[in-house]
Amino acid sequence: MNIKLNHITHTYDIDVLHDITFELDGYHSVAIIGVSGSGKSTLIRLMSGLEKPSTGFVNINDMPVSREDYKRHVGFVFQNHNLFPHLTLKRNITLILEKTRGKTPEEANTIAEHYLSMLHLETQMNKLPKNVSGGQAQRASIARALSIDPNIIFLDEPTASLDPILTHEVLEAIKNLKSLGKSFVFVTHVLSFVRDFADYVIFMHDGLIHEHGKPTILDQPKTPELKNFMDKVK
Ligand SMILES: Nc1ncnc2c1ncn2[C@@H]1O[C@H](COP(=O)(O)OP(=O)(O)O)[C@@H](O)[C@H]1O
Ligand SMILES: [Mg+2]
Repeated sequence: MNIKLNHITHTYDIDVLHDITFELDGYHSVAIIGVSGSGKSTLIRLMSGLEKPSTGFVNINDMPVSREDYKRHVGFVFQNHNLFPHLTLKRNITLILEKTRGKTPEEANTIAEHYLSMLHLETQMNKLPKNVSGGQAQRASIARALSIDPNIIFLDEPTASLDPILTHEVLEAIKNLKSLGKSFVFVTHVLSFVRDFADYVIFMHDGLIHEHGKPTILDQPKTPELKNFMDKVK
């Protein structure tokens, strides 16, 4: 994957990202870490095209993320599962495939069952989100993100609302997706997962990419800010 951030700033009522210019090429699994409020969610939303930067531009794989054909090929998994509450896990997927991808109900059904099975939800797929565990709902939203066959999957703290056991279950499921050959960009506080799954790490601090490198930067932080973060999260 190629990521190019060109003079990105983002402002809500205050400046949240301060003129970030950054390029990264050749990595498939990029972790974004940093304390709360450092701008991780803002950055991942801009990279996924969900939101536009106030100034500057983002290109991923040499394509402006503002283009509709870019957005059609990315999946996003949010902190909370974000499934439609009145639809079964399976219908949450088939609906999108039928309405936005032109699939027939039969095709949509086959695809949904394929990805729900990949996430070990064979026996849960006809249940409503409220009738499954938080981990199962989150795995269903990962299946939904995969079902559109994205090139890149963005995950923003996918386990933030889960207990340690469900967190483990979801992160193991994500690890097993590595063989699909997709690219991943994810925000997490689970450093063991970063070490296992990321091939590159971006550390955000105060609206800037403060330090970045291979996961070994976690063990040899160059800046006091990353060192301090590691001391707190460990
Ligand atoms: N929709 C929003 N409106 C106003 N301020 C926001 C909004 N989203 C985020 N912020 C502010 O932007 C800063 C960075 O937030 P965020 O990108 O969510 O950081 P992180 O994901 O690292 O916690 C925080 O100070 C937050 O309060
Ligand atoms: Mg966040």
